[in-house]
Amino acid sequence: MDRWEMGSLARLWSSGFPLYRFFRGSCPSFPIKPVLPGVRGADLKKYVIHGGRPLYGKVEVSGAKNAAVGIIPAALLVEGPCRIENIPAISDVDLLLDILRDLGARVRLINRTTVEVDCTDARRQAVPYDAGRKLRASYYLMGAMLGRFGQAEVPLPGGCDFGSRPIDQHLKGFAALGAEVTVEKGYMCAGADGGRMKGSQIYLDVASVGATMNLMLAAVLAKGTTVIENTAREPHIVDLANFLNSMGADITGAGTDMIKIRGVDKLRGGEYSIIPDQIEAGTYMAAVTAAGGEVRVCNVIPKHMECITAKLVEMGAEVEEEGDSLIVRRHGPLQRTNVKTMFYPGFPTDMHPQIAAVLCLANGTSVITEGVWDNRYRYTEEFRRLGAKIQVDGKIAIIEGVEKLTGAPMEACDLRAGAGMIIAGLAAQGTSEISNVKHIERGYEDIIGKLSRIGADIRVVEVPDPERGKVSAAG
Ligand code: EPU
Repeated sequence: MDRWEMGSLARLWSSGFPLYRFFRGSCPSFPIKPVLPGVRGADLKKYVIHGGRPLYGKVEVSGAKNAAVGIIPAALLVEGPCRIENIPAISDVDLLLDILRDLGARVRLINRTTVEVDCTDARRQAVPYDAGRKLRASYYLMGAMLGRFGQAEVPLPGGCDFGSRPIDQHLKGFAALGAEVTVEKGYMCAGADGGRMKGSQIYLDVASVGATMNLMLAAVLAKGTTVIENTAREPHIVDLANFLNSMGADITGAGTDMIKIRGVDKLRGGEYSIIPDQIEAGTYMAAVTAAGGEVRVCNVIPKHMECITAKLVEMGAEVEEEGDSLIVRRHGPLQRTNVKTMFYPGFPTDMHPQIAAVLCLANGTSVITEGVWDNRYRYTEEFRRLGAKIQVDGKIAIIEGVEKLTGAPMEACDLRAGAGMIIAGLAAQGTSEISNVKHIERGYEDIIGKLSRIGADIRVVEVPDPERGKVSAAG
């Protein structure tokens, strides 16, 4: 390690950056997941929240998780170094960077939010089973490897449990692009004759985010033109298209329901900055709406936030736009409303548990209809421990607002459910504890630090050591 790298490490350490990222792969003796104050990846932790305090100050939103998890695999399609800025420091990103290293890519962290990925020498065409199983987004490696090598083996993906999560539209699309696709021993395996995909016409039966992005990846270097119809329109789809176009791809229509991809022979390296995370921003907006106070949510694209802002305003928040910030305040009572989750530009399913936490304290009865996933209601059982009145009937939750919630232990069952539990804990009177926080740390960068800086009383503790029976504060 040279002097520049030593100096950078010291600066990053003082900024709270998870330094273990630097040593993965290059120094096997370094502990990969040390249990340090606030360090992600330490499984034996829980969050303790003393609720009932309003939030004041400023919170900075990180890069979008669901864009980053598509763009990092997309680097496999590029010859030469890609410098990717505004990368969120979350465990899903760490896992993907580790997988790229394993495939033979050179990955260099430039600073807290920038990574340089060079996949020129990546040769392996199979993702290790254990690594790939850990996250949903590993399926983007399938599209990227098929695009690059015309061949890929990727474990069937893991991810949050919302009932059935089929990937038939991804596989149907790969087949239309000329790959022979099989599922064997837990792996999706696909290969195209001659090692190159062929442009095709694909109609998606459902406007799936994952299938849209995966098929874009597979088609970018294909021979000929691909048209994908009934595509999803989420901001991260546009971001992936912008990334690929900035590296030399020819994609039009991203953000509409039809995307056209003219295959090119190669993509070259370049620089790209990921958009801010719509859902992270919405989570902080919901937190201040539930707990009360006034918070400036910085580094957002206000247009992406409109569907969330509109609902929070109906519920009694004031939201003021100032450049790339939204100032959110709530001092009066919370009002009931109805919410239906949908594909973009509708209200996002990934804000469902967070908005439910706010509605638990609203005047009157609210109805949430889940329009994307079969079962996203596992959080309701945990909310009831705080005194929330929620009934679930199929895809509908009926929430009768209560005057107050009281703190209780909760277990995060998935990423956004965990975020909803934090919001409920912040708005409740007394102490809440949230366990299984690894789900939350998959998708929220430094959520404890960010909330603490706007006045939340939230900290991380180590789960009691069964031998010592002791709980020690860890940040
Ligand atoms: N679907 C199919 N067949 C497919 C693919 C999807 O029937 O081949 C159905 C699903 O069952 C679901 C709907 O289509 O009912 C939408 O699924 P989609 O494919 O859009 O979801 P995804 O790509 O697996 C991404 C996000 C999720 C987010 C959804 C919906 C990533 C890595 N994940 O999942 O984000 O809930 O889109 O917006 O981008 C999260 O960030 O917490 C998260 C779960």
